[in-house]
Formats: sequence, structure tokens, C-alpha cells
Amino acid sequence: MAQQMTVPAVRARKASDGAEPLVMLTAYDAPGARMVDQAGVDLILVGDSVAMVVLGYDDTLQVTVADIAHHTAAVARTRPNALIVADLPWMSYHVSVEETVRNAATLIRAGAQSVKLEGGRRRLPMIEALIAAEIPVMGHIGLTPQSMHAMGGFKVQGRNAQAALELVDDAKALAHAGCFAIVLEGVPDRVAARVTGTVDVPTIGIGAGPDCDGQVLVLHDVLGFEHRVMPKFVRRYADLHTEGVSALRHFADDVRSGAFPTADESYHMADAEADALGLYGAA
Ligand code: KIV
Repeated sequence: MAQQMTVPAVRARKASDGAEPLVMLTAYDAPGARMVDQAGVDLILVGDSVAMVVLGYDDTLQVTVADIAHHTAAVARTRPNALIVADLPWMSYHVSVEETVRNAATLIRAGAQSVKLEGGRRRLPMIEALIAAEIPVMGHIGLTPQSMHAMGGFKVQGRNAQAALELVDDAKALAHAGCFAIVLEGVPDRVAARVTGTVDVPTIGIGAGPDCDGQVLVLHDVLGFEHRVMPKFVRRYADLHTEGVSALRHFADDVRSGAFPTADESYHMADAEADALGLYGAA
């Protein structure tokens, strides 16, 4: 039987020490959590990407702590072996340290074992307060979708040497503050390799090349739940949208033709009861 993943076990998974790469996938509900856990992932991220892939928004800025708590609780009820990381949504850790800790506590009480927040050195007071409150923190730097307006869109970060060095300094500061892992999103592969080689906590890449200590993707992208244009870093392992539409068309055809439901798919009354009801022999 698979063992429960823990924060210290994740923290120790550096590729440079010969560790196997970490695997993280998002999940937002019980069936999704069961699937990714049975697939043997190390971490489940209840990401604010729920806004885009489940709730139909164009960006991640619309979801609240209550939304993430609701989805975290659904994932946690499945009692996965994977470590549950819940995203702190935009504006839940920007106003004050006190609000940050309270919001993170809401996610922990919903069933998360750790939280993730976006941003580099400017988040240090919040990260330190969370860690002081015994809440494990995963950092997230590079292309941080909650900064989409400030960044001018979903743009690859750290493309020039100066910006790359800023990212290295951010990662060092997050690791020094006690983050147990750092997501590197949308950065050139060489920059991700440099960051990964610099910090002693694992990096988990998304659009950051192969030299991170692990990889994360969004469940709905991996399974092909949608046919929207995918970023180049997504690899689709299934086409559930096409399979789903075809299955549902089949169902609609069967209902319309009378092929569904059959007698085997119906409940039946005993003949004596049907007789008493005046139904015996009725079609
Ligand atoms: O919300 C999310 O899915 C994420 C991943 C893209 C890392 O933050």
C-alpha cells in the first residue's frame, strides 16, 4: 500500500541527491482526486486554475478563499496518499500578515496539508508568518498568473540575464524563509536549471524545462477535457472531451430511439402487486 506523502519527504526530494522527480497534478473534486491519487502522484494541487478549467473564468483572479476551501474539502474527503497543497488565491495574502495566516488556516481546516502562494521576496513577511504558524508553504515564481495584469499577460519570465538573476535571488530567499518546495512556471529551461541548482529545496516546473526536481500540470489539460489552445508545455495524454461528447451523443440517440432504458435497467413490481393495481398484463 502506498505511503502517505509528507512535507519533509517532499522537501528531501532533490534530483541532485539522486531523488526521483516529484509529480504534482491539480485536482478540484473527489473523482479527480481519486484518479490522480490512484495514478500515484506525490502531490495534489488544489490550484486557483479551478477558476479557468472548472468555473469558466478567463483568469485565476476571480476565485476566493471560500472557493478554494470548498474544492480542497472535496479533495481531502478522498483521503489521498498524495500531499494536498491548496492555492492561496489572489488578494488572500496581499493585505496583511494576519489576514494571510487566517486565510491559510481556513484552507488547512478544509483539509489541505500545505498552501502555495505566488511571488518572490516581497512575500517574505507572509511566508515567515505562515511558517511560524506551522503552515507549510510552497513558493511559486516566474510566470505567476495572479500577476497577469502587472506582467502584461501570461508571459514567459526571466528571459534576460538580469531578470534570471532576480529569479535566482527570489528562489534563494523563499528557500531561506522555509518554503518546502518552489513552483517555477514559464521560465527558460536554463534559468530553471540555474535556480534548481542553487536552492536546496525541490523545484517543481511547469513550462520550465526538464531540469527541475519535479513537474506539475493541470489535470484538465493532461486529460484533454477541453479543446482550447494549449500552451506548448502541455502534453495531452487523453482526449476525454472527444470521448465524452461521443458517449453523450450515443446516450442521447438511445433515449430518442427508445433503446434506453431496457427492462434490465428498470425496476419491476411483483405480478401480484401489479395485479392489485390493475396493471397485470398491461404493456
Ligand atoms: O493553479 C494552478 O494550477 C497552478 C499550477 C499551474 C502550478 O498554480
